[in-house]
Amino acid sequence: MEIIRCPLQMQQWSLAERRQGRTIAFVPTMGYLHEGHLSLLRAGRQRADRLVLSIFVNPTQFGAGEDFDSYPRDLDRDSTLAQPTGVDVIFSPSAPQMYPPGFATQVHLSGLTEGLCGASRAGHFDGVTTVVSKLFGIVQPQLALFGQKDFQQLAVIRQMTSDLNLPIEIVGMPIVRESDGLAMSSRNSYLTAELRQQGLSLSDALRQASAAARQGQRDAAVLLDLVHRRIGQEPAARIDYCEICQAQTLQPVSQVDAQSVLLLAVYFGTTRLIDNHLLLQP
Ligand code: PAJ
Repeated sequence: MEIIRCPLQMQQWSLAERRQGRTIAFVPTMGYLHEGHLSLLRAGRQRADRLVLSIFVNPTQFGAGEDFDSYPRDLDRDSTLAQPTGVDVIFSPSAPQMYPPGFATQVHLSGLTEGLCGASRAGHFDGVTTVVSKLFGIVQPQLALFGQKDFQQLAVIRQMTSDLNLPIEIVGMPIVRESDGLAMSSRNSYLTAELRQQGLSLSDALRQASAAARQGQRDAAVLLDLVHRRIGQEPAARIDYCEICQAQTLQPVSQVDAQSVLLLAVYFGTTRLIDNHLLLQP
């Protein structure tokens, strides 16, 4: 496994592999790897000849007052975790290498980015679409894997790839959870034991709402009320958003069907957790 820091060197490596007729699978991350990231790497390993992991805490997708400075970073730990999955290259550039003086381009997607995380994190998705476009240009993958944990991000990347005619297959992968249900996240490391316990209310509320929907309750307002009541039991919880949306358009729905996804973002102290579930799925 090789670590490459320079974008040009990464691109040359990828172009050389492609000239040899080899396919490249790509997993973009911000590091501090957990089983969720590793599940994407294992799936990528199965599907292509070469596997590239990027680790870059992208400053442009963090707003003022967000956790860019405190975001956990540990490349040695990440290398040790990534190696057994069969990663060929870890691409880990610095911020000035990605955004040199004079950098002036932004990729902006309208519509899908306006609600949910886009409403509470102004500019966040511009940062995501811009960096992912750059990473796609540098890594030149045929295939890129993203987690459904970031449901809106996956929808945004799919649309961007289609709108820009990028010859890259976008693969969405299921949410990996801790054994007690908490969705894995690098940000879980911020939680005290007490807040982590309260954070379980997200997956618990999703489970309860999904069970009610599968038992026949299709009224979105009733299901949202159930979620608000469950999360409201936790003293530190402050709901950022709680919505039931159509999975492709991310528009709110009033009646639940097989395409309805419940999406949540909740603060526990200063830590913001997100989670989601397609309601009619077990
Ligand atoms: P990061 O939060 O590190 O996540 C990298 C990838 O791992 C994303 O596709 C995310 O959805 C996936 N992931 C995170 N937790 C997961 C879980 N519990 N189960 C399954 N997949 C999970 O998302 C980003 O980084 C950045 O926005 C990025 C796309 C790299 C652009 O900077």
